Amino acid sequence: MASILVTGGAGYIGSHMTHALLDRGDNVVVLDNLSTGVRDLVAPDATFVQGDVGDEGLVRRILRDARIDAVAHFAGSVVVPESVAHPLRYYANNTAKSCALVDACLSEGVRHFLFSSTAAVYGLGEGKPAREDAQTQPINPYGRSKLVTEWALADAALAHDLRYVALRYFNVAGADPEGRTGQSTPRATHLIKRACEVALNPELELDIFGTDFPTIDGTGVRDYIHVSDLIAAHILALDHLDRGGEPKILNCGYGRGFSVRQVIDAVSAAAGHELRVCTSPRRPGDPAHLIADASRIKAELGWTPRHDSLDEIVQTALAWEQTKGRVCPPAKSRSRTEAAWNGWGTVSQDIQPAP
Ligand code: UD1
Repeated sequence: MASILVTGGAGYIGSHMTHALLDRGDNVVVLDNLSTGVRDLVAPDATFVQGDVGDEGLVRRILRDARIDAVAHFAGSVVVPESVAHPLRYYANNTAKSCALVDACLSEGVRHFLFSSTAAVYGLGEGKPAREDAQTQPINPYGRSKLVTEWALADAALAHDLRYVALRYFNVAGADPEGRTGQSTPRATHLIKRACEVALNPELELDIFGTDFPTIDGTGVRDYIHVSDLIAAHILALDHLDRGGEPKILNCGYGRGFSVRQVIDAVSAAAGHELRVCTSPRRPGDPAHLIADASRIKAELGWTPRHDSLDEIVQTALAWEQTKGRVCPPAKSRSRTEAAWNGWGTVSQDIQPAP
């Protein structure tokens, strides 16, 4: 049994990770500032601390007092157009705070670190499945803010006793098959989430951004990965670090793509009716294709996809949207420890937690 700090554990992917860790018997502390996270997505058996990963005093106290063995760092900003409008926020939130978190780990003797990176580091890609050793040429501040963090981790691992795995996510979608968590991010922009919202609300319409790409039907092609398979990759990465494994950078995708129109067809089939759609110009910076070469993670971690059907991805996303995707129930009761840590996070750092 290990103690794991999950940053961003009230968010879409972090909340799935928390459930997976608890399922295998780990202790989990979730640190989330709730800027985009939802308190009720945090698994009830995790200890929740409302606070910021950039708050060094808070982070160090959690690492020490909860005897954290490894950090899974999901907290961050993920909206590409927002990163173009507010680049410094992305460098501050994704890069500077990640560096501060790694520094706190080094100070407190935490040596295992998982980092949520992104396929956006590849930029426009080379028109073929992206391998981890392909040139990284991100075309937006979001991708650059993650790539710089990968570099910082690589340098820190060379200089210090730190081992990490950076997972480059392709297009994560779907929801926990048991219905315990899913994507409830307010104002989500991701295609499958948006398509599910449109399927359930006759007043909404889905924009298809670009119909003139050099793809099978003119719309953008992406490698959609079920969130449960993504989380399985994280668990394997933790096991790898536990075995003393070396730092790694690994793609998380299936190596096959679907176009926007194919996704819309799948959501229409799951919903049992056509979606209202309209066509719009391309979004700035959208590549035509972005597909993973997934051979390295399969070979090096033994990762085997178990949910790699677009229909399953879409059905679980739609099921979540129908139940809890839009409505967040009121907060549940909080534990004593949690209340104490919340005191640390929100009150002056000099104030001691309640006994
Ligand atoms: C981007 C990043 C990805 C990152 C993710 C995190 C790039 C190339 N990819 O994914 O690495 O993990 O953000 O936020 O930067 N679309 C529509 N209508 C919509 C929404 C999307 O047509 O309402 C289209 C897009 O133009 C694109 C596809 O659907 O072709 C997927 O878009 P989206 O779900 O937003 O993800 P990416 O931009 O591919």
